[in-house]
Amino acid sequence: MINIKSTSEISKMRAAGKVVFGTFKELEKHIKPGITTKQLDKIAHDYICAQGAEPSFLGYAGYPASICASINDTVIHGIPDDTALKDGDIISLDIGAVIDGYHGDAARTYPVGKISDEAQRLIDVTKQSFFEGLKFARHNERLFSISATIQDYIESNGYSIVRNYCGHGIGKKLHEDPEIPNHGIFGRGVRLCKGMTIAVEPMVNAGGFETKCLSDGWTVKTKDGSLACHYENTILITDGEPELLTLIE
Ligand code: MF3
Ligand code: CO
Repeated sequence: MINIKSTSEISKMRAAGKVVFGTFKELEKHIKPGITTKQLDKIAHDYICAQGAEPSFLGYAGYPASICASINDTVIHGIPDDTALKDGDIISLDIGAVIDGYHGDAARTYPVGKISDEAQRLIDVTKQSFFEGLKFARHNERLFSISATIQDYIESNGYSIVRNYCGHGIGKKLHEDPEIPNHGIFGRGVRLCKGMTIAVEPMVNAGGFETKCLSDGWTVKTKDGSLACHYENTILITDGEPELLTLIE
């Protein structure tokens, strides 16, 4: 069942999105060679709590940290640890915050120091795929038009879209209906309607689309060891332009 949010629920979703956005701004000051992912996790945790919110991921299905920190060939769900960032790495940070009972969720991939042109192109194409898909995040459009547009953009740039993880509806729960694949058939899927809040999150591999999950039960890496990127925002469907709740200009 897809929940349509009321005006007052939307205000709470905006507040949650703002906390997530602010957490990225805070972390961006610290993404440099030498910092560990555990240190980034603590900075995020403390920032989220200082806003009167709670980290959505901490304890979710037993997840042991406040953010996901996924370096290089880690696609998603990297658990913060004592690994220090190195010059030339790319790091995907995924952040969720809940305030007043409503969640916001977003992800970004950042360069650490100086990265290769190829790694930068992967970051740029992944982000742009989100904005290509966003063109169909409108009242009365079909859900999989977003998915198909993301897939097409990624594949026409020579990369692969991860298929075994999806975006999702979001609200009182971090994961609500519908599931939002990043591949599919244009013009299919449920009709979007104003008041829906969805998290669209392309996960993109430089090589093949296959992934493997490590024995910690969380860390997802590319099977072929190629680089991976992630970009996500929580989106409100309106009767006009979609509103990005986790990207505030
Ligand atoms: N953005 C991811 C998601 O929406 C983060 C989940 S991490 C978890 O699914 F720990 F909360 F599972
Ligand atoms: Co998500």
